[in-house]
Amino acid sequence: EKGTYPHFMLKEIDEQPFVMRRIIQEYQDERDRLKLDQDVRNAMKACDRIYIIAAGTSYHAGLVGKQFLEKMAGIPAEVHVASEFSYNMPLLSENPLFVFISQSGETADSRSVLVKIKEMGHQALTITNVPGSTLSREADFTLHLHAGPEIAVASTKAYTAQIAVLAILAVDTARAKGMKLDFDPLQELAIVANAMEVLTDQKETIEELVRDNLGTTRNAFFIGRSSDYFVCLEGALKLKEISYIQAEGFAGGELKHGTIALIEEGTPVIALATQENVNYSIRSNVQEVAARGANDMILSMKGLEQDTDAFVVPHVHELLTPLVSVVPMQLLAYYAALHRDCDVDKPRNLAKSVTVE
Ligand code: M6R
Repeated sequence: EKGTYPHFMLKEIDEQPFVMRRIIQEYQDERDRLKLDQDVRNAMKACDRIYIIAAGTSYHAGLVGKQFLEKMAGIPAEVHVASEFSYNMPLLSENPLFVFISQSGETADSRSVLVKIKEMGHQALTITNVPGSTLSREADFTLHLHAGPEIAVASTKAYTAQIAVLAILAVDTARAKGMKLDFDPLQELAIVANAMEVLTDQKETIEELVRDNLGTTRNAFFIGRSSDYFVCLEGALKLKEISYIQAEGFAGGELKHGTIALIEEGTPVIALATQENVNYSIRSNVQEVAARGANDMILSMKGLEQDTDAFVVPHVHELLTPLVSVVPMQLLAYYAALHRDCDVDKPRNLAKSVTVE
């Protein structure tokens, strides 16, 4: 039930700190160690490459998850849009493990890949919010998101839950392989939960940003580098899905290779700047668009901020910034849809789970 909330989407955005804390509880044993099925651990240890398969928002979570698996657990990983995988199947490694990410566990595009790779004799792990779902039943292993029912068509808390569970999976695998990591995911996720709470208390600031900058615009660009880029893809999807503003996410460095031609006087450009190693370069991309008349808004992180930034998120571990920077993006989309009188929870042409290919 929505309770006092006007929309499920807003309720689900607000639930994210609690979901983080539930994930911490569910994936922690009595001795404060990570709790994962030994079978999952063994499969992760045995594989030589991970193929992440997903659609939409879950695909965007997969892009972040790939980084975790490679940077923390040292396993090569690739991410594929489910609907493309079957036509363009890459050459598979000797011992692949398939990881399906799906909030609903019912997405037909992902299921058809699952059926195919099972026929080929490969193992699959499904990360889902619905443990009894098709993708969960038909895979060898399941990791549960514990996000609680997600009703709004626009996925919010499932995305952050997916990223949190992927971080836990990567660290657990690294530890199982005897790798030494200077990163405690449960502690870091607790910091994220607190940061999310700070952000969900700043709705008025985001609403104002929307009113001042996205009121009547027909399009908007999101730019970022490294993991900020992945969050830009998600921010753009959220905005177009519920407010019908044409929005695109771009890698900051790619702009000058074509897209910058679209920048006109007043075009909104939202730039994410939460990564220290690309902070300088993304800010120079912002100068490039500003010089061409763009209405730029920089969303940065505490410690990297400058006075002119439009919004600053609290500081969290650099690998986990997508978990916090996505929250203002979700709220931007929400208020943009609200201001345009769109049906926030049930956008046109869309269904909560896409059960046709
Ligand atoms: O249930 P799934 O995670 O498999 O769904 C995948 C996409 O259909 C879904 O994420 C979609 O993109 C959302 N409406 C985005 O908000």
